[in-house]
Amino acid sequence: MSTASLPAHSDPPPGPNHVAIIMDGNGRWAKARGLPRVAGHRRGADAVRRVVRGAGELGIPILTLFAFSTENWTRPAEEVNDLMGLLRHYLRSELEELHRNGARLRVIGNRAGLAPDIVRDIERAEAMTHANSRIDVNICVNYGARDEILRAARRLAEQVAAGELEADRIDEGRFERELLTSGVPDPDLLIRTSGEQRISNFLLWQCAYAELIFVDTLWPDFGKEHLERAMAEFRRRERRYGGVVG
Ligand code: IPE
Ligand code: IPE
Ligand code: MG
Repeated sequence: MSTASLPAHSDPPPGPNHVAIIMDGNGRWAKARGLPRVAGHRRGADAVRRVVRGAGELGIPILTLFAFSTENWTRPAEEVNDLMGLLRHYLRSELEELHRNGARLRVIGNRAGLAPDIVRDIERAEAMTHANSRIDVNICVNYGARDEILRAARRLAEQVAAGELEADRIDEGRFERELLTSGVPDPDLLIRTSGEQRISNFLLWQCAYAELIFVDTLWPDFGKEHLERAMAEFRRRERRYGGVVG
């Protein structure tokens, strides 16, 4: 066999297709500087802008960011208010740039728990960007995986009870269609910043076979170069899906 027919080893292996990030460490970033927690969240919002831009430049097709969990409501009211204020600001100030850069925005989570003006901003941002195709940017707000899975199970049970669905027709595909991420391919890489090594109720169903990468960097310090490093690590991993390779 001539070398001309060998695959070009200089080409990087494909992927990741969908990078999900648990953006953690804003509070510790602020504390280390003697600043209030909100200062860390503000710098965290700057990191979101950087990372969304960086992901587009790196050619990542889908980026999903965990911004606010169903459990984060247990934080002091002032911090929750600050976070919701930053979300409002982000949705308004970033919309033009996201749109210009070809990003399709989707907000994933239980909207019933959000303020009506935020829901309107979300709907407007999604409508404006829905035809874009360079990068999908999903932001998880008031998201909890157990809540999502429970709601899916409840809706399927209601359909069975109403005689609209046979229980034995519920397979993975049917179940997935009831999840908030319906239509979004599963993440193949999950990154968590700040040194914590846990999932914290994020995308439990969807990350069944995701590669997990934990980095010590606090979220406000995270940038394109960290994302690039995680992608390189992802490409070195051997993904087996329970099978045998080689
Ligand atoms: C991540 O940073 C932002 C949210 C969870 C909303 P944290 O606020 O959790 O920061 P730490 O973990 O206290 O450092
Ligand atoms: C997970 O971070 C939620 C988000 C990043 C939005 P937390 O800081 O809330 O998680 P725990 O409390 O460390 O598990
Ligand atoms: Mg945290």
